[in-house]
Amino acid sequence: MKRSTLIALKTVVWIACLVPFGFLVWGAVTNNLGPDATAEIANTTGLSALWMLAITLAISPVRRLSVHLAWLIRFRRLMGLFVFYYASLHVLTWLALYNNFSIRSMLDDVTKRRFVMAGMGTYLLLLPLALTSTNWAIRKLGGKNWTRLHWLIYPAAICATIHYWWKVKTGVLEPAPYTLVLLVLLLARPVMAWSKRRRARAVSV
Ligand code: HEM
Repeated sequence: MKRSTLIALKTVVWIACLVPFGFLVWGAVTNNLGPDATAEIANTTGLSALWMLAITLAISPVRRLSVHLAWLIRFRRLMGLFVFYYASLHVLTWLALYNNFSIRSMLDDVTKRRFVMAGMGTYLLLLPLALTSTNWAIRKLGGKNWTRLHWLIYPAAICATIHYWWKVKTGVLEPAPYTLVLLVLLLARPVMAWSKRRRARAVSV
């Protein structure tokens, strides 16, 4: 891919990923975030992190569909960092607007509401991924260790889904589309590995 095309595509991805943030800033400036602005900010940042996580997970299987899609891999790190960006804004909303930075109130919330604990688990799983996203960290860890560490993205995605299901009221099916997409993406991995092994065996026979 030409450098100019890559820069243009990256610009588009940056703008698209910043749309939810822009929507929140615009809503705050115009005082138009609805009757419960705190919940609106928490839900928008949480959902943005979740869908961007699904897109990040989709990059590997989708690029394997055709050699012409190999360039997609260049966007995986950027998407992963946007997941962390929205997850951090989401957690910051919880720290500042739900708990006023009070340690006692936070501990109370984590121990009393199981969905908050699952959210915390998700964030703790995403943290090492963001911290090791630099070229320096990849070199220091070595490719194999880095890849192994980045498998944490799968438990993080599962934990985020549990967080979402536990957050909504019983009978509310809002998390279902995300869960379905995630399930397909998680199943794509073993299926791809199995078909790769089959092809390798067929070549060696
Ligand atoms: C310390 C970590 C976390 C805490 C304390 C936390 C807390 C919360 C809270 C309080 C809400 C409810 C907002 C409301 O309706 O009043 C919420 C919703 C949500 N959170 Fe988290 N969260 C955390 C991490 C995450 C992460 C890492 C993700 C995604 C990767 C995530 C995704 C969501 C989603 C999708 C919703 C529901 C949005 C909706 O109903 O429209 N959360 N979270």
